[in-house]
Amino acid sequence: MRKKVIAGNWKMNMLPNEAMAFIEGLAPLVKDAEAEVILCVPYTDLFYSLLTAQDTKIKIGAQNMHWEESGAYTGEVSGKMLKSIGVEYVIIGHSERRQYFNENDETVNKKVKAAFDNELNPIVCVGETLEQRESGKAEEIITTQTKLALEGLSDEQVKNTIIAYEPIWAIGTGKTATADDANNAIKAIRNEIAKNYGQNIANEVIIQYGGSVKASNAKELFNTTDIDGGLVGGASLKVEEFAKIVNYNA
Ligand code: PGA
Repeated sequence: MRKKVIAGNWKMNMLPNEAMAFIEGLAPLVKDAEAEVILCVPYTDLFYSLLTAQDTKIKIGAQNMHWEESGAYTGEVSGKMLKSIGVEYVIIGHSERRQYFNENDETVNKKVKAAFDNELNPIVCVGETLEQRESGKAEEIITTQTKLALEGLSDEQVKNTIIAYEPIWAIGTGKTATADDANNAIKAIRNEIAKNYGQNIANEVIIQYGGSVKASNAKELFNTTDIDGGLVGGASLKVEEFAKIVNYNA
């Protein structure tokens, strides 16, 4: 049985004092949750969040990293740096990074490999645009993105990759994929992994849904056969709302 993993993606929001207050408020509300809870916070919140989340159920992740360990890359942060302060997870290839910061399948693959080299668990985002969906290309897009993101990884690394299926038209728009559509897209991603790494490994990979997840739709989404939790943007900025998503079956 795969566990459910619910990750918040704060994007470019929350100052350190807000982050600490959030984590202090969230910790007691999720302490008995069955799902794993991760908050992916801005770089400037990482250290404060890690300290505040110590001895709680909440794990801390970053939202991006560079693939090199160090060097002349002004403004970048490496996986080695994240690991050095105790970060455990890192989002890679979010659609906003692909759209605004020129990330592509090749840089995503390099970052995923570098994450594993530094013992970080990558949360790799894949997803189609509305145009791609309407022209019937969604499945091809997301399976190709998945294949290229995982290229060259060992079976063990594939097993430990979290994939977030995030249809771009559903991110921040209030439009959610139906539970059936999201579940089918995630099945297609799992089949692609099975094709390349075998069914046993595919059965173990955590594949989340992301795109306007909120307390009111979490239960329906997460009780499907293949959706293993969510990557939550807007609704992860409010303690009560996010706690309800984590405790979706309560
Ligand atoms: P949203 O964002 O929940 O605000 O739609 C999800 C994401 O971008 O990860």
